[in-house]
Amino acid sequence: MSAADLTPTILLLGKNGQVGWELQRSLAPLGQVVALDRHSSDYCGDLSNLEGLQATVRALKPQLIVNAAAHTAVDKAESEPELARLINALAPQALAQAASEIGAWLMHYSTDYVFDGSGDQPWQEDAATGPLNSYGRSKLEGEQLIAQACERHLIFRTSWVYAARGGNFAKTMLRLAKERERLSVIDDQRGAPTGAELIADVTAHAVRQVLRTGTGQGIYHLAAAGEASWHGYASQVVETARRLQPGLELKVQAIDPVPTSAFPTPARRPHNSRLATTKLQQTFGLTLPPWQQGVERLLAEIL
Ligand SMILES: NC(=O)c1ccc[n+]([C@@H]2O[C@H](COP(=O)([O-])OP(=O)(O)OC[C@H]3O[C@@H](n4cnc5c(N)ncnc54)[C@H](OP(=O)(O)O)[C@@H]3O)[C@@H](O)[C@H]2O)c1
Repeated sequence: MSAADLTPTILLLGKNGQVGWELQRSLAPLGQVVALDRHSSDYCGDLSNLEGLQATVRALKPQLIVNAAAHTAVDKAESEPELARLINALAPQALAQAASEIGAWLMHYSTDYVFDGSGDQPWQEDAATGPLNSYGRSKLEGEQLIAQACERHLIFRTSWVYAARGGNFAKTMLRLAKERERLSVIDDQRGAPTGAELIADVTAHAVRQVLRTGTGQGIYHLAAAGEASWHGYASQVVETARRLQPGLELKVQAIDPVPTSAFPTPARRPHNSRLATTKLQQTFGLTLPPWQQGVERLLAEIL
């Protein structure tokens, strides 16, 4: 048997998203990665084409499928719930069915938005769900359909994702801090900003373990350590930017904390997005770093 026969094939969907981009890097040493996006031509990577997706899995016969594609436009999902359901629930189901047929593992991502945001304690994996918006409902249904269709699955619920590539809150705050003297930022929603790099690295560790042991399936919370409000997060971005680059022209003089009601949006969002991550850390022998660490790396990279 040659080395090529022993190398697992890994199918990565959503290769150009924040997490997908970092997965291209972190999965590379683990096997032969076939990375697709919705426009790929050799194989179908379009999550709105369920038959095409299943044909891709049947043709490639990967040992592992990693789905980083999703309908992530939370407010838009309110006006296009059917599309959100297709991409976030029915496509993951189709992938899970095809994975089950060939005995592959399916790695998938979900969200703190499956919870209703009540209370002030971190959510455990088995806590009652209660999504407040269409995006959260579609992601929750995706989790459920995967679990029904494919035993060999890992679902990582994460929160407040940022990356050097792609649009996100940290980059928006940095831009606004250059343009305006005063910012108003919500301070009654709390969670943990989590870097796509961290998510991708943890995924790779977990992949190695489940491929080796054949166990560990289920839902895990994957977020950086600590917590912040959006206001605290924005303040950290600005302070860190000033510290890392004292010459940087930032106009902002004040960041005012405001309640969620100051910024009405089509989708309601949970106040408490804290995720308890003990299960993930214990199962995979990992330590999740404080969220500030990843934000500092982001700024060092993009400034
Ligand atoms: N972003 C967050 O704050 C956050 C928080 C909690 C959980 N999550 C979850 O984490 C995972 C990764 O999120 P992310 O931040 O990396 O999202 P992202 O940057 O928005 O990337 C999502 C990717 O999915 C692709 N996609 C959308 N519709 C598609 C389709 N029909 N076919 C193929 N690809 C399609 C997008 O492609 P286009 O660019 O072509 O549209 C994009 O590349 C998702 O499951 C998300 O639900 C994210």
